[in-house]
Amino acid sequence: MFTNRVTELFGIDYPIIQAGMIWASGWKLASAVSNAGGLGIIGAGSMYPDVLRSHIQKCKAATSRPFGVNIPLLYPDLEQHIRIIIEEQVPVVVTSAGNPKTWTRTFKDAGITVVHVVSSSKFALKSQDAGCDAIVAEGFEAGGHNGREETTTLVLIPAVKNAVQIPVIAAGGIATGRQMFAVMALGAEGVQVGTRFVACEEASVHPHFKSAVLNAAEGDTQLSLKKLTPVRLLKKRVFSARCRKRKGEVLTRANWQAYWAGHVRNGACTKGTWKRGNWRLARQVRW
Ligand SMILES: Cc1cc2nc3c(=O)[nH]c(=O)nc-3n(C[C@H](O)[C@H](O)[C@H](O)COP(=O)(O)O)c2cc1C
Repeated sequence: MFTNRVTELFGIDYPIIQAGMIWASGWKLASAVSNAGGLGIIGAGSMYPDVLRSHIQKCKAATSRPFGVNIPLLYPDLEQHIRIIIEEQVPVVVTSAGNPKTWTRTFKDAGITVVHVVSSSKFALKSQDAGCDAIVAEGFEAGGHNGREETTTLVLIPAVKNAVQIPVIAAGGIATGRQMFAVMALGAEGVQVGTRFVACEEASVHPHFKSAVLNAAEGDTQLSLKKLTPVRLLKKRVFSARCRKRKGEVLTRANWQAYWAGHVRNGACTKGTWKRGNWRLARQVRW
């Protein structure tokens, strides 16, 4: 059987992490991936605290294997989420969109394995210094939020690998065994896959969203809201017009939290309302 630092860290069979994704990765997807030997992650970023607790409990009932929860650190009810994760003894937490120094120690003291998502060597080092057990290095190809540096996966992975000693998990544009093989040749010890898992039966998005993933071709996604918070979305006329309106906005803590609060309320991706949803996909979605 294949083992490396990532399989050993999480206690899994394959170094494949299913990314935490708002709207898409609830207990059904997370438990299916964990049961198959990878690491399933519940995406807490679109869940009210009571919803998160119920997903964790259902996931525990559906799998005896390790699983995790992803929390974007700028989530409005962050402290409630953290309390629930600790009370429910979730084995792994993947933090993103924030400073790894703020909460890593709290999770580690509770016996939780902590992984932080970064888009540069600088933040990889910061995560290592904060005591994280591993990092996800996410390149510009990734669906969802992107680093401001716009560094591609091909460039990012060797740079981050040279910068830190903790295991590097590659993300961004990875959906096949060949792509996994490529990033592992660059020094990654595992992969975090997002967009590909959106298309799975167990993902909680509407079938329209799943078809959009399967039908999207090269060039069908674009980076939007570059100043406010860069995010890779499927190109759509209506949403692009809305993004253009917010084009000049710059990031403040207040408008970021308002933006996340919108995610929690927004059911467009689960209802399949094509016009309203800001559907996030990787840069390259045909496999
Ligand atoms: C629909 C969707 C929702 C996402 N939501 C989150 C999220 O809530 N938190 C987070 O850290 N990353 C989120 N991401 C990024 C993923 O966790 C992951 O790192 C990324 O999808 C990897 O790139 P790939 O889509 O090319 O596989 C999201 C991505 C997608 C496609």
